[in-house]
Amino acid sequence: MKIAAMIGSNRAESYNKQLVEYMKDRYQENVEIDILPIEKLPFFNQDEELNPPEIVKEIRQRIKESDALLFATPEYNGSISGMLKNAIDWFSRVDLVMVNKPGMVVGASMGALGTVKAQLQLRQILNARGVGVLTLPGNEVLIGSVQNKMDEQGNVTDEQTIDFLDSVVHNFVHWCDTVLK
Ligand code: FNR
Repeated sequence: MKIAAMIGSNRAESYNKQLVEYMKDRYQENVEIDILPIEKLPFFNQDEELNPPEIVKEIRQRIKESDALLFATPEYNGSISGMLKNAIDWFSRVDLVMVNKPGMVVGASMGALGTVKAQLQLRQILNARGVGVLTLPGNEVLIGSVQNKMDEQGNVTDEQTIDFLDSVVHNFVHWCDTVLK
């Protein structure tokens, strides 16, 4: 199964980026995670949507070729980052490449609540008509105090978090393979 991933932080040491890279490595036998370079997208401009820049066409194609989507969100001021919203807006138009694709949401923050506000908003955005990403209710990964749960190399070190992540990924893949087939 091929999963296209959007990461909402362009910070070099982003925990969310490290989390997706960790998942890419850990679950490589079951899923292939393609990290989309959404940080290269220009600001969405509706005037350009019918004849968009090359990077939009390239990412659109990679989404089309994927079986599922992964969204890794930081929490910025109680919401998702502008960068992630910008990417979702681009791919919610014209070809509607995300509609009816299953999507998994993860998020890590240094605060105790682990991106809960951002994830609630993200799930609402994913429900919008042109976005249309299907999410499995309750299958959530919220990693709070992430600075205590990952090492310098970007490995998740907290056993409970690893077990939890394993179960959420398992549920997601099972859902894609059975209920959605
Ligand atoms: C934050 N941060 C943050 N954290 C949180 O738990 N709730 C919040 O509302 C915010 N707001 C916020 C706004 C802005 C503009 C920044 C830059 C940061 C802290 C944030 O969780 C922390 O920087 C994470 O490390 C960001 O994710 P990455 O870049 O590590 O993936």
